[in-house]
Amino acid sequence: ALPFDLDGVRILISAGGTREALDPVRYLGNHSSGKQGFALARAAAARGAEVTIVAGSTSGAGDPAGVQIVPIASARELSDEMSARAAAADVVIMAAAVADFRPLAVAEAKIKKRDAGPAPIELETNPDILAGLVQARKRGEIPASTVIVGFAAETGDDNGGVLEHGRAKFARKGCDLLVVNPVGSGKAFGTEDNTGWLLSAAGTETALPLTSKTLLASRILDALAPLLDRG
Ligand code: C5P
Repeated sequence: ALPFDLDGVRILISAGGTREALDPVRYLGNHSSGKQGFALARAAAARGAEVTIVAGSTSGAGDPAGVQIVPIASARELSDEMSARAAAADVVIMAAAVADFRPLAVAEAKIKKRDAGPAPIELETNPDILAGLVQARKRGEIPASTVIVGFAAETGDDNGGVLEHGRAKFARKGCDLLVVNPVGSGKAFGTEDNTGWLLSAAGTETALPLTSKTLLASRILDALAPLLDRG
């Protein structure tokens, strides 16, 4: 790719994990480090993009220069920020690991220990932010030209299983590009390297080599650049 091929392109990236409060001291969270989303932000900024990261919990993701960072904790906060900002973006990338469930209520005081039995915690389903953004674009609340990119962190016995899950997810979510990553047992979450496939709405499936999250970010940007409406 040419340097500065993303000059002035507004890219909104969610990264890191969400934290769903249980009580004043506890939360449900996940192992997302935010490294892949932050690597995308750095790579895009280096190619001239105006980048905003909506960041949940991260670990070792660094502090990219020249990138606006909006901190959030919960999936609902992430949803609010993404909905509010998506219409002003040319590209929206959902790299965050969003909790699928949140506690039904946040206890005002620390939840007391019990001697035995199930925990007194009920969960409810969080909104699917990525699918919601695709729906908002369909309704015209987000410009039709906005490129929407998702990630699919999949566990599977073999790579074929991971790719199969990724294909099914791509069909469900309706985004323009989906980055499918094998995760679990030391893969992807928290590591420096990543691999997988890039699925496009045009039907292409590109295998991504096992490489640094930085180089993988460039490959993802290479794939989305031709989708931009540069009129
Ligand atoms: O369904 P799953 O969580 O595997 O899908 C992953 C993709 O969907 C990621 O791009 C993630 O950021 C996004 N996602 C979302 N809202 C959720 C769950 C996942 O936007 N509640």
